[in-house]
Amino acid sequence: MRIGIFDSGVGGLTVSKEVAIKMPFNDIIYFGDSIHLPYGNKSIQNILTYSRNNVQFLIEKKCQIIVVACNTSTAVAIEILKKEFHPLPIFGVIEGGVREALKKSKSLKIGVLGTLRTIKSSSYKNKILQYSPRAKVYEVASPLLVPIIEEGFKHKAITIAIIKSYLEAIVLKIDSLILGCTHYPLIKKLIKTTYPGLQVIDSAKATSSFLAKKIPPTNPRNRKIEIITNDDNEVFRRIAKKIFPKEKVTLLKNENST
Ligand code: DGL
Repeated sequence: MRIGIFDSGVGGLTVSKEVAIKMPFNDIIYFGDSIHLPYGNKSIQNILTYSRNNVQFLIEKKCQIIVVACNTSTAVAIEILKKEFHPLPIFGVIEGGVREALKKSKSLKIGVLGTLRTIKSSSYKNKILQYSPRAKVYEVASPLLVPIIEEGFKHKAITIAIIKSYLEAIVLKIDSLILGCTHYPLIKKLIKTTYPGLQVIDSAKATSSFLAKKIPPTNPRNRKIEIITNDDNEVFRRIAKKIFPKEKVTLLKNENST
C-alpha cells in the first residue's frame, strides 16, 4: 500500500525515515507544507484547512493510507479528518507516542514537550489519561525549539539552555518525556545527555512501530520514496538531505493550498 505522509514542513521526515526503515516494502510519498510552517502557533481553523488540503493532495497522488506526521495537526485535526475522509485509513503521531510512554514509564508521571497549539489542545494528556487514569501528565509548550533546530542547532550551549529552561519545572517530577513534535527527535541525543535518567520517547519511532504492525507490505522489489514540498527553501533541502541523503526533493509548482 502506498503511504502518504504530511507535515507542516521538513520535520515530518523524522517520522518518514522511521517508517521507511520499519516498512521497507511500501511506497512512501511525503508532502511538506513549508509555505504554511509553522502550524504550531496558527489558529485551529487554519491548521484544519491546511491538513484537509494536504490529505486531498496525497489522495490525488494515489496514497491509500495517510500518516499525519505533524503533532499539531494530529492534536487539532485528526478526528475531523478521519470522519471527513472515511473510510480512508488516517493515522496520527500521538497514539504511538502515548502507548510507548505508558509502556516505559514506571511512575506513570509523564512529561510532554510540544508546540503551543499541541499543548493547548491537551491531546497528549487526554490520550494518556484515557488509557491510564492514574497517570500524571506535565505538558510544556516549547516554541523556541523548532526554529533553533531548523537553524541546525549550531549553538549547542544555547539549545541546552533552552531545553533546561523548558524542563526545569517538571524534570524532577517525571520519569519519561514524550517528544511531541516532529523536530524534537533531532535533539533527542542532546536531551538524553542533559537528563540521562529520563526515558525519552520519540513519537517518530513509536508511530512507525505502530504502523508496521497494521499495514501490509506491498512492493517488495523497488519501492519508491518521493519527497515533495511547496516551498523551495534551504532549510528544507538541508534537513531533507541529512535525513534522506539519496532521495531528491521535488518542488510543487502549483501550490495545493493557499
Ligand atoms: N510539525 C510541527 C509539530 O509536530 C512542528 C512545526 C510547526 O509548528 O509547524 O507539531
